[in-house]
Amino acid sequence: MKGLTKSMMWVLMAGLVVSMSPATAAPITFTKDVMPILQENCQNCHRPSGQNMSGMIAPMSLMDYREVRPWAKSIVKAVESRQMPPWHASANQNGHFLNERTLTEKEIQTIADWVKQGAKRGSPSDAPAPVEFKEGWIMGEPDLVLTFPKDYFIKDEVEDLYYNVTVKLTDEQLSEDAWVSGVEFIPGSEVVHHIIAYASDPEIVGSIKENEDLEGASEEQLRGRVMLGGLAPGTDPGYYPEGFAFPLKKGSEITFAMHYHKESGPGTGVFDNSTMALKFSDKEPEHILGITNIAHGAFEIPPGHPNWVVSGAHTFEEDVLLVNLFPHTHLRGKASTYTAIYPDGTTEVLLETPAYDFNWQEYYYYKEPKLMPAGTRMEVELVYDNSPENAERSGFDSSRAVRFGGPTTDEMDLGWYTYAPAVKADATD
Ligand code: HEC
Repeated sequence: MKGLTKSMMWVLMAGLVVSMSPATAAPITFTKDVMPILQENCQNCHRPSGQNMSGMIAPMSLMDYREVRPWAKSIVKAVESRQMPPWHASANQNGHFLNERTLTEKEIQTIADWVKQGAKRGSPSDAPAPVEFKEGWIMGEPDLVLTFPKDYFIKDEVEDLYYNVTVKLTDEQLSEDAWVSGVEFIPGSEVVHHIIAYASDPEIVGSIKENEDLEGASEEQLRGRVMLGGLAPGTDPGYYPEGFAFPLKKGSEITFAMHYHKESGPGTGVFDNSTMALKFSDKEPEHILGITNIAHGAFEIPPGHPNWVVSGAHTFEEDVLLVNLFPHTHLRGKASTYTAIYPDGTTEVLLETPAYDFNWQEYYYYKEPKLMPAGTRMEVELVYDNSPENAERSGFDSSRAVRFGGPTTDEMDLGWYTYAPAVKADATD
């Protein structure tokens, strides 16, 4: 309280009293109470040309009273059920992740009470200034933008297709080795199910063949190949913390590992040409990033089983900083848990997604990279629902046993994570 005179204190306290008492008595209005919540938590997606999260585009704009009023009842339902804003980590992890999207109890109550009181507009002079959304790249201006050398046609008969498009970087595109600090994609068509970006050091591996299976590649095969990031339905772009970056060699080959998924049949064929943008760090990173996953791989989910559990684990041999977690399953996946078992025997649940949603595959970015001391065992548990009820909802065949496989109607059990050695790069050499 040093520096505050007694009279200043009185002014502050009087301000509190004035702002508190009418709030309890005055009716809740859109302009005063609800619009700030929507600006903060909804409009990033619910606006004209809102954030396209790999094909997940919000169906309506919620920028002003006129646009919001017809949706008032649906909004209450969506926020009370916590369907909106979309966020699938358990509330136990609230506060851990940078890209968390949650409303407080109080905000949910305000929206519900507003509708109960007749969803009034209120005085236009109470409204906060409209938010100006930046158009273009979410991560900021990229240093290199890559597209396919030519459009690729996904034929009528295709339902699921893995296809690699490789672009060799010219000296004009990349005149010297660089450090990648951000990766963002624009899917070129609505049939893009995911994109994984790889960079290959040509001196070590040479090009990735057109239809080489990358998801099942061994560690040996992957040496010299750096995964730069990925995009799946519902994901945010890759934004990495200050001082963290991926190495990118001059002359590298960049691969778009595409997964297309669509209905098959006459007239369903579509051209795709997706875009990948890279942002470079202008100084040497302290921490060199890598992306890898924990997978069991050799599982078989019995026909009709509603609750099949698959788990895998990895023990860190050195101190590692976790940057993000990304659980990945297909249509039958219903929950995921990452747990750390520390060398002293204590355990911590890092991430739980009690209602995993195939359409909202999230990267969970730590606010501060999370230290996994050497000797920590990280376990990933994935749960699958192969019941006829889920088959009906999600569109698959529950009468067969399911194993690891590329098509979305097979399954995957990939506990992805992005990490870096905790020891600073310059301290090691
Ligand atoms: C990250 C992007 C994103 C954010 C943030 C977001 N939404 Fe949505 N919203 C969507 C998408 C995409 C859909 C349609 C797909 C779906 O329902 O899952 C949707 C659907 C909805 C629906 C259902 C529309 C219908 O057809 O019934 C409502 C209501 C809604 N959102 C309200 C909100 C509110 C209120 C907020 C903020 C508290 C919010 N959303 C935040 C992306 C978002």
